[in-house]
Amino acid sequence: MDYDAIILGAGGAGLLAAATAGQAGARVLVLDHADAPGKKILISGGGRCNFTNRETEPHCYLSENPHFAKSALSRYTQWDFLALVERYGIAWHEKTLGQLFCDGSAKQIVDMLLAECRLGNVEIRLSTPVGEIAHADGRFQVAGASAPALVIATGGPSIPKMGATGKAYEIADRFGLKLVTPRPALVPLTLGKDEMLFREISGVACPTIARVRDIAFEEASLFTHKGLSGPAILQVSSYWSPGETIELTLVKDAAEMLRAAKRRMPRAHMKAALAERLPNRLADALAERIGETRPLGAITDAELDLAADMLTRLRFRPTGTEGYAKAEVTAGGIDTAELSSKTMEAKGVSGLYAIGEAVDVTGWLGGYNFQWAWASGVAAGKAI
Ligand code: FDA
Repeated sequence: MDYDAIILGAGGAGLLAAATAGQAGARVLVLDHADAPGKKILISGGGRCNFTNRETEPHCYLSENPHFAKSALSRYTQWDFLALVERYGIAWHEKTLGQLFCDGSAKQIVDMLLAECRLGNVEIRLSTPVGEIAHADGRFQVAGASAPALVIATGGPSIPKMGATGKAYEIADRFGLKLVTPRPALVPLTLGKDEMLFREISGVACPTIARVRDIAFEEASLFTHKGLSGPAILQVSSYWSPGETIELTLVKDAAEMLRAAKRRMPRAHMKAALAERLPNRLADALAERIGETRPLGAITDAELDLAADMLTRLRFRPTGTEGYAKAEVTAGGIDTAELSSKTMEAKGVSGLYAIGEAVDVTGWLGGYNFQWAWASGVAAGKAI
C-alpha cells in the first residue's frame, strides 16, 4: 500500500506527528509492535500524565547540541499543547514546579491523540513488528507499505518490559546516522557497601538540594535499599557520569541550626538537634555517622561547624545507576548534528525523520520529555 508517510512508533511523538501530517492532508500509516498505542503515556505521572511543564525552556534539556531543541520548542510550545488539552475538555492541575497533570487519567491524553489521528484519517497498525526497511528510488518500504517519508519515533530503550527497544538506533545505523552513546537517565543511583548510612534508612524521603558539578536541583531525595532516588536524585542522574561525586544538602543553614540548638538545649544530644529538621530515622543515622556522643553544650562551635558541613555537603560516589529497567528516559540517541532542527529530517537522507526520545534531546523530570515529544512530532508532521 502507498502512503505519504510511515511513522514507526505509536508513542506521544509518533501519534502527534501522524495527526499533524494527516490533518494537513497526508496519507499516514503508524506502525507499532505493541498491542496498544501510547503505553508510556498511560503509566506516566503515576497514571495522570505530567503532560507538559509551564516553565519549559531550552535550558531544561540535555543534548550534545544545547541549541538544537530551541526551534521545535518555540514553534510548538507548552501553551499550544495545553490549548489542545483544553479543547478536549480535559481537566488539569499544576502539581508543583510548573508540572501540569490530568485531574483524571493519562488515558484522556491517549484518547485525545487518537481522536486527533482520526481527524487526520491516520491508519494505525498495532502488533506489527518493524522488520527490514528497504529504501529505493526515494521511497521507504516497510511491513508491506511504501512511502517517500519515514519517521523514526520508536523512543529509547528505557523500561524494556513495556516494549521499549533500541530499534531507533538500529534504523539510524542502517541509514548511516551517527549516535550519541545512549545511557539511562532520570534513574535511581546505586551506592556501595561503604555507604551503609543510606541503606539503613531505605524509604525515608526529605527535601534536599542534590548537586553534581555545578548543576543543582532543589527537590526531595529518597533513600532506597539500593542507594538513592527521588526527584532531586533523578534530575542529577541525567548529568552524572560514573566516578563523579554527588553532594546532598540536607539542611541549608546547618551551622546556624546546630548553634541555636546548643544554646536552647545544651543538655540534648546531636540526634535531638537533627530530629528537629530531619526525619527521625535519618537523624539517627546521621548522628551515628557524625559520631559525637557529648551533649550539645559540651561541643565547641568549631566542632559543631564540622558536623554542620556533613549536613550541608554530604558527599557520596554512586557505584552506578539502576539501569534501563528503572530509567524514566534514555539520554543520548540519534545525533542532532544529523538532523534539521526545523523539520527533524535527516540532512543526508531525504525523507527520513527522527523525533521524540529517539533523538539526543533529554528533558528534566516534570513534563519536559513529553513537551519534546509533542514539539518534535509537530515539527516533523508539518514538514512531511
Ligand atoms: P515512546 O517510548 O513513548 O514511544 C515509542 C513507541 O515505539 C512505543 O509505542 C513502542 O511500542 C514503539 N516501539 C519501540 N520499539 C519498537 C519496535 N522495535 N518496533 C515497533 N514499534 C516499536 N515524561 C514526561 O514528560 N512526563 C511524565 O509524567 C513522564 N512519566 C514517565 C513515567 C515512566 C514510568 C516512564 C518510563 C517515562 C515517563 N516519561 C514522562 C518519559 C516519556 O514517557 C517519554 O519521554 C516519552 O514517552 C517519549 O515519547 P516517544 O514517542 O519518543 O517514545
